[in-house]
Amino acid sequence: MAETKKLLRSLAGEVQEVPPVWLMRQAGRYLPEYRATRAEAGDFLSLCYNSDLAAEVTLQPIRRYGFDAAILFADILLLPQALGAELWFETGEGPRLSTITGAEGLKALKGKDDIHDHMAPVYETVRILARELPGETTLIGFAGAPWTVATYMIAGRGTPDQAPAHALKAEDRATFEALIDLLTDSTIEYLSQQVEAGAEVVKIFDSWAGSLKGEDFTRYALEPAKRIIAELKSRHPGLPCIAFPREAGENYIGFAKATGADCVALDNSVDADWAAAHVQVDGCVQGNMAPNLMVTGGQALIDETKRIKAAFSKGPHIFNLGHGITPEADPENVHVMLEALRG
Ligand code: CP3
Repeated sequence: MAETKKLLRSLAGEVQEVPPVWLMRQAGRYLPEYRATRAEAGDFLSLCYNSDLAAEVTLQPIRRYGFDAAILFADILLLPQALGAELWFETGEGPRLSTITGAEGLKALKGKDDIHDHMAPVYETVRILARELPGETTLIGFAGAPWTVATYMIAGRGTPDQAPAHALKAEDRATFEALIDLLTDSTIEYLSQQVEAGAEVVKIFDSWAGSLKGEDFTRYALEPAKRIIAELKSRHPGLPCIAFPREAGENYIGFAKATGADCVALDNSVDADWAAAHVQVDGCVQGNMAPNLMVTGGQALIDETKRIKAAFSKGPHIFNLGHGITPEADPENVHVMLEALRG
């Protein structure tokens, strides 16, 4: 069946004069209505596990801007929590988790099939969204990639260089690889349930893929993505998958073909013309505007929106930022970008 939704058409390889558009972190702190709903929920994690309110914040940017896709409101760190890790958010600082430092920490975790009771509210959010989204809007489910999730589980927090995860990989490779395998297997089960509940596309966020070099990139970024995508597509034939190996640089080349991804999301460190020539040749790409332009706005935002649209105009493209929209962004600038893009 020919796809009718704009986002699905690009994922199927169609070149569109006006590309579909959505923004990473489009439900977030830059929106006053998000801040109000988060306050109603109490805190960020309570919002993630409150299906009605999580669906509400997912819908807010769709109502305000008419984006072509809605992304499930949740977080990549809910999976470690479902596996038994402790998780909390320090206000103004970010996530904190109990740490995995060796074989014992790993053994204490649950198995890949033991996550679904914990994740039941997330699946319910997906079901509500599948009912309530406008007919033309595509629903994206997501998870973190094993390496990125592992970096948080090993360090117990975000780290600029992922040093604790690299150290465990060097010092106790068996434990490190067993953690990557557990995360790969449980991500398959988690995403598969999101699809059962109504997600039409899945996206895998490998935010720290850029710190894996050479053979490590192949083993711990590419291979897990390939395994997740292959298994999901065998369970759900035709399911479109977006992979985001952030800051992969040259490793973006061939990533879609090697993993089976239908679309590769580009960060804003790669040049759009380079990416069109070397990455988009294999199929759909998403991204790669600098998030800061949503803060500064003005003519530079209009010019850059048009430049990126033009750079990717010869192949399938989904307009997006190279990373999440930040809390400092001006909600008016999203209208400015949309006007420049859609005319
Ligand atoms: O709108 C959407 O994009 C969907 C929801 C979503 C969130 N996080 C909500 C969120 C998605 C897809 C994510 C992915 C995510 N979470 C990633 C991968 C993408 C990336 O940003 O690199 C990562 C690394 C995380 C882990 C995480 N969650 C961190 C490091 C933080 C703190 C930093 C920050 O931006 O505050 C979060 C918190 C978080 N996740 C917020 C939101 C809206 C802000 C929390 C708040 O409202 O206080």
